[in-house]
Amino acid sequence: MEETPSSQRARRAFTAALSATGLLGPWVGRAQSPVVVRFSHVVAADTAKGRAAQRFKELAETRTGGRVRVEVHANSQLYKDREELEALQLGTVQMLAPSLSKLAVLGGGGFEAFDLPFMFKDRAAFRAVADGPVGAGLLKRLEAKGIKGLAYWDNGFKVMTANRPLRDVADFHGRSFRVQSSRVITAQMRALGAEPVVLPLSDTYAALRDGLVDGQEGIPSNIYTQRTHELQRHLTVSHHAYLAYAVIVNKGFWDGLPSDLRTILEGALKEATVYAQGVAAQDNEQMLEKIRASGKTVVYTLSPAELAAWRRAMHRVYEQAPAWMGQEIIDAMRAAAGRSAP
Ligand code: SIN
Repeated sequence: MEETPSSQRARRAFTAALSATGLLGPWVGRAQSPVVVRFSHVVAADTAKGRAAQRFKELAETRTGGRVRVEVHANSQLYKDREELEALQLGTVQMLAPSLSKLAVLGGGGFEAFDLPFMFKDRAAFRAVADGPVGAGLLKRLEAKGIKGLAYWDNGFKVMTANRPLRDVADFHGRSFRVQSSRVITAQMRALGAEPVVLPLSDTYAALRDGLVDGQEGIPSNIYTQRTHELQRHLTVSHHAYLAYAVIVNKGFWDGLPSDLRTILEGALKEATVYAQGVAAQDNEQMLEKIRASGKTVVYTLSPAELAAWRRAMHRVYEQAPAWMGQEIIDAMRAAAGRSAP
């Protein structure tokens, strides 16, 4: 009998869970056996995150002379969005790089501040936040949940897609959009007059195909590699928010590593982070060009007046957000990002 994607996922997850119990081999192996780091993520291998994960694997394995084996599981092969966070806490995977939006459930609302509309004017503004005290403070909050945050990885600015042009705010009215599990993104869609539907990335293609949702927001790289542009005739370049990741590990696993191995892995991750930074912008530009060239999707860039109208509509989110995360984190992020006003 042929396996379906969900039975494959269940089988892989079962094997991973069994392995974590020690029945198939513990994290830190017996004499001679390598330490296994299962690194799960939900996007295609051929994306900035997928390639950075692969780069980390290569560096880690080479530099430890085979004492560490990194198994990268891309494209939700092992777990979907929410499941992978639970799996990390249970220790059935050791490393993830979820979007910052998806970390809200673990770190209080603070990570959702990264989703605030128009928070970042460019990539440098995001890095200023991520590499400064605000970024470090948010990663620290994860420790209470048994998770250690090691790095922030870049991706890109978001666009919107639908089967109708999205130019005026009124174009959103009455339409449903797939979103990540973030109160800020949910509120942003409502501020535009649309209905947000929280779904894992891996379910988005089917949801668009089956008409469960009318549109989505995302980055060109994910839209192209998940092939969702094939189902959406219009894409609007709005750059209303930035998608980025945190590389996180199971804290017990990480703290339990021999310190020489941990140092090597930290060095490998540092290099993979620089690599991710270097490829993310180009990756999204190329994927947007591929979407355009596919002839399936019309790519439109908002005029300054249209963009200003989106911005005005989304401003409402800044009134709601303090209730979820506190005004302090919003002000601190805005100051670090060089934004005097939303
Ligand atoms: C990701 O890039 O990891 C997923 C983003 C999404 O769920 O839209």
